[in-house]
Amino acid sequence: MKLLVTGGCGFIGSNFIRHVLATHADDRVVNLDKLTYAGNPANLADLANDSRYTFVQGDVCDAKVVRDVIRGVDAVVNFAAESHVDRSLMEPDAFLRTDVFGVFALLEAVKELKIARFLHISTDEVYGSVERGSSRESDPVRPSNPYSASKAGGDLLALAYWHTHRVPVLITRSSNNFGPHQYPEKVIPLFVTNALDDQPLPLYGDGRNVRDWLYVLDNCAGIDLVLRKGGEGEVYNIGGGHEVENIVLTRQILQLTGKPETLIQPVKDRLGHDRRYSVDSHKVRQLGWTPRHRFGDALGTTVAWYREHEAWWRPLKSGEFRAYYEKQYGHR
Ligand code: NAD
Ligand code: TYD
Repeated sequence: MKLLVTGGCGFIGSNFIRHVLATHADDRVVNLDKLTYAGNPANLADLANDSRYTFVQGDVCDAKVVRDVIRGVDAVVNFAAESHVDRSLMEPDAFLRTDVFGVFALLEAVKELKIARFLHISTDEVYGSVERGSSRESDPVRPSNPYSASKAGGDLLALAYWHTHRVPVLITRSSNNFGPHQYPEKVIPLFVTNALDDQPLPLYGDGRNVRDWLYVLDNCAGIDLVLRKGGEGEVYNIGGGHEVENIVLTRQILQLTGKPETLIQPVKDRLGHDRRYSVDSHKVRQLGWTPRHRFGDALGTTVAWYREHEAWWRPLKSGEFRAYYEKQYGHR
């Protein structure tokens, strides 16, 4: 297959491109990425000399750029997005642009050029907070922050293009990912790198919100399976099956980094903070997917990766990140 991957310089996209080229020797990948603050070509530096891989810098909202890169591909996998909830509370504009209008531009091009498959990467956050039980693909979306509302907008538009124009859309909705190359604004890499630097870990509210953690390589395997075996017009949840309260996760990170619990700093809660996410993954398991990594082992591997790749994350935590950190946490 020749794939167009968008947002491939980000966390999950870069892991996915590496996974595809390692497991499908004949595949080729074009990566379209705008290189926002979260896009880092260093994430794929190891592919610089791989003739199967091409990078194009560009915006998924730009219809002309999208048409140019999409021509001749067998499938599109859309990771491009603004992805951080806290940023969507402060500056939502880019979320609407990329996560809704970007999907629109891609759908139009897929329709016009009759591309055989469009896999849109979404999130369990579109279901909103789930107090009990687990969300199924047939549940209505009830997003509760500007990030998840934008993602739900993209999902609904994609499904509408399937319904009306039979554009061959598939959607995955995964739970929270963690692993190597995750930008250090998300809770796991932020807390790991803060701990390594003996800096406080700002834990929101009572610390008892629950997330279902999924190792990024397990998500990549699930996405790849859905891409090749999934049904058109279908949505597939991909959950790690490891639900944990933030305070428990924080203590595990401190244990793995060998730092004291006095680093935990309870801070004012996030606005509209969803209490719990949980997805039912039966449908993707029926396709043959199962998570291969145990949470504790994968968290250990992740902490070790950040410990060994200071040269990757330290520059990211300077510059723009400092201003963001001050704005996000300074008043809390
Ligand atoms: P990320 O923020 O690490 O990377 C996003 C990438 O998209 C960056 O490389 C960025 O440069 C690129 N990008 C942003 N706007 C663009 C635009 N207009 N045009 C082209 N490229 C653009 O995100 P991630 O954590 O890797 O998430 C990837 C996808 O997975 C997103 O769609 C996100 O909603 C979804 N998702 C993420 C998680 C998670 O835990 N990280 C969980 C479920 C779903
Ligand atoms: P995050 O990594 O931002 O992912 P999401 O909000 O998309 O689930 O946050 C995961 C959980 O960690 C969430 O409940 C919010 C919490 N959190 C903190 O307690 N402190 C922080 O500094 C951050 C970034 C998140």
